[in-house]
Amino acid sequence: MMRTLWLSLLLVFALGVSADERPGKAAIASAHYLATEAGHEVLAAGGNAFDAAIAVSAALAVVEQTSSGIGGGGFWLLHRAEDGFEVMVDGREQAPAAATRDMYLNADGTVNRELATTGPLAAGIPGEIAALAHIADNYGRLPLADSLAPAIRIAREGFPVYEKFHTMLGWSQQHIARWPAAREAFLLDGEVPPLGHVIKLPDLARVLERVAEGGAEVFYEGEIAQQLVDGVRAEGGIWTMEDMAAYTVVEREPIRTRYQGYELVTAAPPSSGGVAIAEMLNILDPWPLDSLSTPQRTHLIVEAMRRAYRDRAIYLGDPDFTEVPVARLTSRFYADGLRAGINPRAATPSMMLPGNDLPWESDDTTHFSVIDADGNIVSATLTVNLSFGNRFMVPGTGFVLNNEMDDFSAKEGEPNAFGLIGFKANAIEPRKRPLSSMTPTIIKGDDRIGVLGTPGGSRIITMVLLGILDFMDGQQPEHWVALPRFHHQYVPDRISAEPDAFTPEEVAALEAMGHTVEVRKGRWGNMHGVLWNRLTGEVSAGSDPRSDAGRAIVR
Ligand code: GLY
Repeated sequence: MMRTLWLSLLLVFALGVSADERPGKAAIASAHYLATEAGHEVLAAGGNAFDAAIAVSAALAVVEQTSSGIGGGGFWLLHRAEDGFEVMVDGREQAPAAATRDMYLNADGTVNRELATTGPLAAGIPGEIAALAHIADNYGRLPLADSLAPAIRIAREGFPVYEKFHTMLGWSQQHIARWPAAREAFLLDGEVPPLGHVIKLPDLARVLERVAEGGAEVFYEGEIAQQLVDGVRAEGGIWTMEDMAAYTVVEREPIRTRYQGYELVTAAPPSSGGVAIAEMLNILDPWPLDSLSTPQRTHLIVEAMRRAYRDRAIYLGDPDFTEVPVARLTSRFYADGLRAGINPRAATPSMMLPGNDLPWESDDTTHFSVIDADGNIVSATLTVNLSFGNRFMVPGTGFVLNNEMDDFSAKEGEPNAFGLIGFKANAIEPRKRPLSSMTPTIIKGDDRIGVLGTPGGSRIITMVLLGILDFMDGQQPEHWVALPRFHHQYVPDRISAEPDAFTPEEVAALEAMGHTVEVRKGRWGNMHGVLWNRLTGEVSAGSDPRSDAGRAIVR
């Protein structure tokens, strides 16, 4: 054992990382045990991490429609082992061509929250199927049909209602009950079914089967496109067949930054996550965080969060429509300037920073992490936005549509459902993609490679930051995902903290520095991470204990 370890160390330090170095085992961590198993099933059938990611995404689209699905979209961050190629597959939803800047405004200029979040008008054109087909065609080893097979089986055979699903269905019950197809799919005589009740989705199985047979074209140009457009328009939506046909996956160069000797590869715009992570890590870099007291460390991290979230509000949007100053925001010189404005002993009131304010967004969405035995990696965060998206289901399809249009700013400076505001960079425009916080991330070092991400709306970015810092402290994925969390997002100007994040004395110390600390009753996030220790060869994985259904399996 010791001999093997020394040999590995010698290999890494003397030769660098050899091209044929491989983990030898695969790890998958996702928000549902059936999805994790679906990924491993596809690996066992000869697939690689990219095929497994398709299987996990599709299975989550069946068993976790609270959070993601083929009526939504996401970002799949890929690392290919053989040549180190990395890309973010952007399958984010796109506004239909008839969308207008003021489409959610009432006659008196106020935002119609109901319209922006519920029913067909709230939905952008879904990107998930296009992204899965793109990944299969360009990076997978197996045909799309093979990777979709486990999801089709689960949709047909059904899955038992689990606690998280039960709770979230309760939150959405009234809205779901409005739409006959969604009511029939998820409710039992109009009520939330009990734990363990088996939900079968035969319509969804048929849709996935049609995609497996005919490819993404049937979804975007064929019979399913027609069914979706007809169903959406029948209830007041504005989708057209041209919108469906115009949907395209975009391959984006990931955001890259360095911290403490590690390279971070993370989400590019239209996610705000990677830019914010780079900005926060650049601010924090010179400080010896691990030698500071908890209040002092928290204070500095919070001041970095505050500044990054201010910039998110002002500068971030779809890069195909608005010029996002990525190079400036992620530069070390810019961070030096921001750091210089931080008082090490006192909070900077957010209102004293130039700019505009930014509250928070949804808790839904899903993340999974995959590494295969060859070292191919996928870090993917997917979403339908709010719980069960717009809660609307086109009859005969078996899946809810997203309400991602609410991630745009419906009106400059006006908060969305969760208090999130934005400005011109994120205004609604035809065919534009709404700004996201999803932050799938890969951390690469000579000794360890980590993969992580989480749902949690605007809190995604701060959770990923805390996970990265925990990785830097040498912790295992089980630790990153369970870590008590705190969050600051510029406005409201307060630290929100999970119940066990701080002791009463630590809260008092933060308050003495001028921070407002809100210790919340609830917890947030659902992080799933994997780790390959290149020195020991160990592959490990962790699923957030905050959910009952998540599962991390190394095989
Ligand atoms: N809908 C949540 C996000 O994309 O950030």
